[in-house]
Amino acid sequence: MMYLGVDYYPEHWDLEMMEHDLERIVALGANTVRIGEFAWHLMEATEGRYDFSYFDQAIQKMKAYGLNVIFGTPTTTFPAWLAKKYPEILSVDAEGQKRVFGGRRQYCYNSEIYSVKSSQIVTALLTHYQSEPAIVAWQIDNELGHEGSDQCYCESCHKGFQTFLKEKYVDIEVLNRTYGAIFWGQTYNDFDEIPMPLKTITTHNPTLQLDWARFRSKSINDYAKMQIDIVNKLKRPQQNVIHNFFGGFFERAYDQNLLASRLDRVAYDNYPVWGGLEKPISPANIAMTHDYIRGLKRENFWIVEELMGAQGHTVIGYLPRPNQAKMWSYQAMARGCEALLYFRWRGMTHGAEQFCQGILDQDDQINEKYREVKAFFDDIKRYEVVLSTPILAEVAVLYDYDNRWSWQAQSQSHAFDFTNELLRVYEGFYTQNIHIDVIDIKKSWDQYKVIALPVMQIVDDALLMRLKAFAEKGGQVIFSFRSGIKNRDNNLRLGENILNELCGVKLKNYESLGLNNQVKLKTSTHEAAIGGATMSVWRDLLEPTTAEVIYRYDDLFFDQYAAITKNSFGDGTVYYVGGGLSQVATNALIEQILKETGILTHKSAKGLEVVRRNSGEDTYLFIMNHTESNQSYLEHTVGPYESRIINLAKI
Ligand code: GLA
Ligand code: ZN
Repeated sequence: MMYLGVDYYPEHWDLEMMEHDLERIVALGANTVRIGEFAWHLMEATEGRYDFSYFDQAIQKMKAYGLNVIFGTPTTTFPAWLAKKYPEILSVDAEGQKRVFGGRRQYCYNSEIYSVKSSQIVTALLTHYQSEPAIVAWQIDNELGHEGSDQCYCESCHKGFQTFLKEKYVDIEVLNRTYGAIFWGQTYNDFDEIPMPLKTITTHNPTLQLDWARFRSKSINDYAKMQIDIVNKLKRPQQNVIHNFFGGFFERAYDQNLLASRLDRVAYDNYPVWGGLEKPISPANIAMTHDYIRGLKRENFWIVEELMGAQGHTVIGYLPRPNQAKMWSYQAMARGCEALLYFRWRGMTHGAEQFCQGILDQDDQINEKYREVKAFFDDIKRYEVVLSTPILAEVAVLYDYDNRWSWQAQSQSHAFDFTNELLRVYEGFYTQNIHIDVIDIKKSWDQYKVIALPVMQIVDDALLMRLKAFAEKGGQVIFSFRSGIKNRDNNLRLGENILNELCGVKLKNYESLGLNNQVKLKTSTHEAAIGGATMSVWRDLLEPTTAEVIYRYDDLFFDQYAAITKNSFGDGTVYYVGGGLSQVATNALIEQILKETGILTHKSAKGLEVVRRNSGEDTYLFIMNHTESNQSYLEHTVGPYESRIINLAKI
């Protein structure tokens, strides 16, 4: 079933408003509402006294209107009485400051008592609604790890970290050797001497910082697993266990793949613009978030919060133009979303999210946003079958959270942004309108024709073997800068770079280009195609061994070094892009690589996104215009922020 609907908070409003709300929600074309994820106090006003009567009557009314219900476990927002009685549940920030009640997500994932209280409310909730057929899915907490809640420096976390390290290294000498703790005399006699990476003078040991990120990720995943296990034990078999991941995934110390593997369905909160942003993130960046979310389980996903109006807590920004938020919904469906709920039915008049617009505003009137959502629901439900088909990509952008956290500890260039470096390569594929998987490097990737590993500085022997095998059998591999310089412990290697043979180059030196430097490149082949290429952020100075040079550095001192190389390896080809290559040049390089692989591409005007979906004999093109002007594709004219679904078989 294609769940279409809204996030609905009846508890925010007078009870008498519910009928009228539900009438209009159904008239919108919705068949599902999500409720409850912030309502712990309403269910347990005092410790141990559970009362679900409010939601009993709410769900009865929703059922009367034929609505399905997605119910959120309410552990993101614990009651004040809980914080007052058990202040140890409160997390501690990087300044060592205990967070206070107010806001949300201020609990510590390693708090014993918080886990106990969470498990009690979740058990009570699931037990109470065990036989409620209207509930089609249970959402675990809400955006775990978001808004800075991935970090906590409380005593429980300190002890937990030291235990984590003891279990990993067993012998303190092994840890000392792995950390290179001899440096700056940091040798430990015991695990209980090891600090959390709180503020210090200069910087902490890179391996300790990586271990801390791994521990944070484990803390969140362990907390989530506690809830998932309870829900799985008590839920009805056909109900889905889901969790809604937030955007900006790489900014947190939290690898979402493990949690995703424990869910029935991955859900996503899609906000192309939020807070004070003066314009949305780029169309390619929005697309990349969908391909990342789909990649978590390599399955189509749900969106349980789709933006339909300006959003922000203390500051807001860009207002989506007419049809633009609807276009973002089409884009999400085209890239693997199978169920979509808008955040939220009506904007709230009180509390921290007065400026998070809903479909309805405070005037409670049917408006343009309502009409946009209705038009979208009426249209998209006709494509349920094609939208339930899998997306089979032939190219993949690979990431690795250890590698991400290595960069988080040492960004090496003031201009370095991990997501931007993935996006630089991703956009080269995106502009060709092909399917792209964005997946964890631990997943299987030998089915692809092309893989890209942007800024993959951590490469171990096992990964090298996989990469060689992939290239041997004809795969195309694209590395960008700093590739292979570190081992899995976040340390540099003494000796040759592990990738020299595969890439056919030797790294002779490097330069961080910082925020303002960029260098020109020169080439005999690509110049004509694009009229010049530059590099920013970083540059690796490469000495080719078996590789051919595609670009050299066009400068006085280093023009003997290559900037971009192409190396035949087995039946495959390995590209090394030694810096932040300008987007036009990146796009041209990737277009050339795709041409050599024969992957079917769809050329379109900049800002016109075309996604191909197949269903049986039918081939559909989802066309989204991300621009303010008319764009044409085939013989179709697509208006500003308009979306179009065409069935090629019917042309
Ligand atoms: C996030 C949260 C929601 C709400 C919205 C506001 O996605 O999940 O509870 O705070 O942001 O935009
Ligand atoms: Zn803590």
